[in-house]
Amino acid sequence: MPDTLAAGERILLIDPKERRYLLTLVAGATFHTHAGVIAHDDIIGGDEGRTIVGSTGRQFLVLRPTLSDIVLKMPRGAQVIYPKDLGAILIAADLGPGQRVLEAGVGSGALSMTVLRAGASVVGYELREDFAERAKANVAATLGPDAAYRVEIRDVTEGIDEPDLDRVLLDMPEPHKVIPAAASALRPGGILLAYLPTINQTALLRQALDDESAPFGLAETQEIMRRTWHVEARSVRPDHRMVGHTGFLTTARRLS
Ligand SMILES: C[S@@+](CC[C@H](N)C(=O)[O-])C[C@H]1O[C@@H](n2cnc3c(N)ncnc32)[C@H](O)[C@@H]1O
Repeated sequence: MPDTLAAGERILLIDPKERRYLLTLVAGATFHTHAGVIAHDDIIGGDEGRTIVGSTGRQFLVLRPTLSDIVLKMPRGAQVIYPKDLGAILIAADLGPGQRVLEAGVGSGALSMTVLRAGASVVGYELREDFAERAKANVAATLGPDAAYRVEIRDVTEGIDEPDLDRVLLDMPEPHKVIPAAASALRPGGILLAYLPTINQTALLRQALDDESAPFGLAETQEIMRRTWHVEARSVRPDHRMVGHTGFLTTARRLS
């Protein structure tokens, strides 16, 4: 028997134009879109994968959201890392169960929830209290209140107080200023990963990693291109639009 949808769960509604809405089911509540009104009670107790009909007769598909749906639709403080890059980060930083990860800054929590879902525990450093609260709320809404997640309001360029880390993940403007602190906090063999929107910032980071005093090696920078396709019987071709650029991923290993 599949689990039926319950009050308190988050679901994704998809309208006939493939617009997506993320909402939490509440008994007796209604959801309003310009394509019609939907009663939550018509969804609660049913299966996901069903189509329901709104007040204007339009059909909506009901599904539990994937992590990618949540990242794209959840409330944001800061700009999130997009799913195409989150997927690559999991492999580039070789993230997995039991690892101890330091992440700065946590922004809206998109990277945090991806790392937590891979089974690691995360300590986040974040400059802005409002962003820290947003990240914690997003993580709790997705993974529950018991996620192995702690966020501190502090500047990562002023030091890292977590010893023997397996990974340091940086999504903030000046990761080159964090190299000495990351070197002290990472265990030998650990991985540093930085996500940066411009190649100028990336070049500064690579210089800092290449500095003789920095115990890092195997530095690598990559960019992820994702092109979706339009697939219909007689028209199979790349979609006309694609996201041209998001950010550069740089990784390096902590040497002993
Ligand atoms: C682009 S956002 C991070 C988004 C996040 N990775 C996500 O996927 O939701 C960058 C964050 O870094 C924080 N930040 C910038 N400089 C920082 C620093 N020196 N120490 C800690 N956090 C910092 C900002 O306040 C902001 O929240």
